[in-house]
Parts: sequence; structure tokens; C-alpha cells
Amino acid sequence: MTTSARVHNFCAGPCTLPVSVLEEVRDELLDFDGTGMSIVEASHRADAYDAVHMGALADFRDLAAVPDDFTVLFLQGGASLQFGQVPMNLLADGETAGYVDTGAWGGKALSDARLVADVYEAWSGADGDFTRMPGADEILVRDGSRFIHVTSNETIGGIRLPDFPTLSVPLVADMSSDFLSRPIDWDRFDLVYGGAQKNLGPAGLAIVVVRTSLLGRSGRDLVSYLDYRTHASADSMANTPPMFPIYVMGKVLTWMKTSGGLGEFERRSNERAGLVYGAIDGSGGWYRSPVDEASRSHMNIVFRLPDDDLEKRFVAEAAAAGMVNLKGHRSVGGIRASVYNAMPVESVETLVDFMADFRSTNS
Ligand SMILES: Cc1ncc(COP(=O)(O)O)c(C=O)c1O
Repeated sequence: MTTSARVHNFCAGPCTLPVSVLEEVRDELLDFDGTGMSIVEASHRADAYDAVHMGALADFRDLAAVPDDFTVLFLQGGASLQFGQVPMNLLADGETAGYVDTGAWGGKALSDARLVADVYEAWSGADGDFTRMPGADEILVRDGSRFIHVTSNETIGGIRLPDFPTLSVPLVADMSSDFLSRPIDWDRFDLVYGGAQKNLGPAGLAIVVVRTSLLGRSGRDLVSYLDYRTHASADSMANTPPMFPIYVMGKVLTWMKTSGGLGEFERRSNERAGLVYGAIDGSGGWYRSPVDEASRSHMNIVFRLPDDDLEKRFVAEAAAAGMVNLKGHRSVGGIRASVYNAMPVESVETLVDFMADFRSTNS
């Protein structure tokens, strides 16, 4: 397949990766760096892999400007495992934390945390059908709370926190679907986590960035894999790490650094989102965004057409024109265009042109 045969992939995750990264991976697959084998066949204790692994840890730190008093962990179990692992590691018996329920993912984080700790709902968007994020003054911070958990971007509902709330306690954030799409103000956080498979690489890898002083603070006896200290003390190589996703993510991080860093990726995400929301807002109500304007996601843009039938045709005709995975999540319907870090602006322009043509043919 040549690169020109590639589709415009608007998948919510796993999702499109930079072509230059895929080409490098292809070129190295039979012989990585003169080793005579691919990186996925190497020992994770080999020098070749060690360089890849330590390089990815260093590049993540550098790109995200992670301060020295935070530890970066590469883990398995997806972001989902963090729904339980975070409270197990950060909350001692009898301590509490608040969880902001902003939709499918915020809700899962809360319900899993409840299984392992005494946490509470700090705000719920259920009344408004999860179409907006809360303001800081709406978030309940109970006395003695260790942290407030937020989901920076709800991948299914298509809403994001435009700014992180300033509260009297630190934040813990699931950043899975907008990880490294904008600079992070680390002072506000005790811990940040996310799966790699949207903005950073293939599935199979979760990244946790935790304030080092909090390691072991729960005082709980945990299964060793679930204790962050196990991974922190071994540079995330206590057991066999997810080598392939780390290797590919390392290349994505290099690509992001050489492309201009997080400021540039924030600019690109504003540009992509501006194009699609512009097409929605300029359609005289034919395309409709169901979410609050201030909470609009820049990564997962959800919109509706006048009826279900038109939505089905939109998805089918877009796919025939090379734009795939535009169907909204089955729980909410409609259309969802996911435009992560590696989505070229040209693909978004193609979508916007298609939206204009489809509307003029069908209205
Ligand atoms: C915001 C958010 N959090 C958590 C998850 C779960 O991630 P994983 O599949 O890596 O467990 C997802 C997956 O799409 C997500 O979008």
C-alpha cells in the first residue's frame, strides 16, 4: 500500500499515527539498529531496547515539561486500570477524594474508585445529559479530600475542560483523549494518566505521571504490580514492559518535539477544531453541535444532522470518499470526528469540504 492509498481515519482510538513514524517502523521491522532482529523480538534487558525505553521516558519528560519532583511510569492495563490503581495508591484507609462525573469515562472512574476507596461524587453532568463541563464553583470539595479527579476530555460525549479548575486541593486527571495536545500546568496536579492510543501511539500502554512524594502514601499492602513503587524503582521495567507501544510512542514523541512541541500541537488542535466547528456553525443549523459551546472538545467533535437516516448516509458516503470511522459512539449516536495530534489538517479540510457538499445535496 502506498501512502496515497491511506484513508482519512477519524477513529476515536486507536487512531491515526504520523506516516513518517509508520514508515520508520516498517523500515526497522526486520533489522532494528543492526541487531538482525526487530525490536519486538529483542529481550527487554538488551541494550538496544534499553536505549529505546529510556529514550522514550526522557522524551516524554522533556516534551511535557514534567518537573523533577514527578515520576513517569509506563504501565499496562490501559487507562481503565488507573480507575482503581490511582485510589489504591493515593488514598489511605479512611481518606477520601471527589470524582467529577462528566460522562462515560468520568463515571467509570468514579464507579471503579468506589470499589476500592471511600470516594464521593463531586459533580455530575447527568442532569444536562453530559453536554458540559462544570465550573470550579460547582465542584464539591469535602473537608479532608486528598484530591479531585477530573476527566480532561470526554471521548464519547465530545466535551473538554477548557481550563483546569482551581480548587483548594490538587487535581488528578484522566487525560487519555487529549494527552499532550496542550501544555500541562503541573503545579495543579498530584497525578495525571492516560492511555497512549489516541494522541501518542498504539494501544497497550498507559502513562502515569505522579508526584514522587506520594509514592507509597496509601500505606496499603498492594499486589506488587499495582503498587506504583514497583515500577518507579525500576524505570518501568520491573516486569516485561509493553515494548512495541513504547517503541512507537518514542518515535511519535520525537516527531512531536521536532514538529514544534506542545505549543505547536495546541495550535494545530485549535486549527482543526476551528475548521469543523466552523462548518457546523456556518450551516444555518443543518449540522448541530449538541454540546455547550465553552466545553466543546478539540479532539472528539460530535455533531448531529437533521435525522438518523441522513446520519447513516453521511457516514456511508464519507467512507466511500475515504473518510472512515465517523459514526458516533453507539451510546449517543450522531457523528463523531476524532482529530488527534497526528491528524493532518488536510484530512480535516477534506471532511469540511465533504460536509458542505453533503449539505447542499441533501438540504
Ligand atoms: C477518557 C478516557 N478514559 C479512559 C479510557 C479507557 O482507556 P483504555 O481503553 O486504555 O483502558 C478511554 C478509552 O477510550 C478514554 O477515552
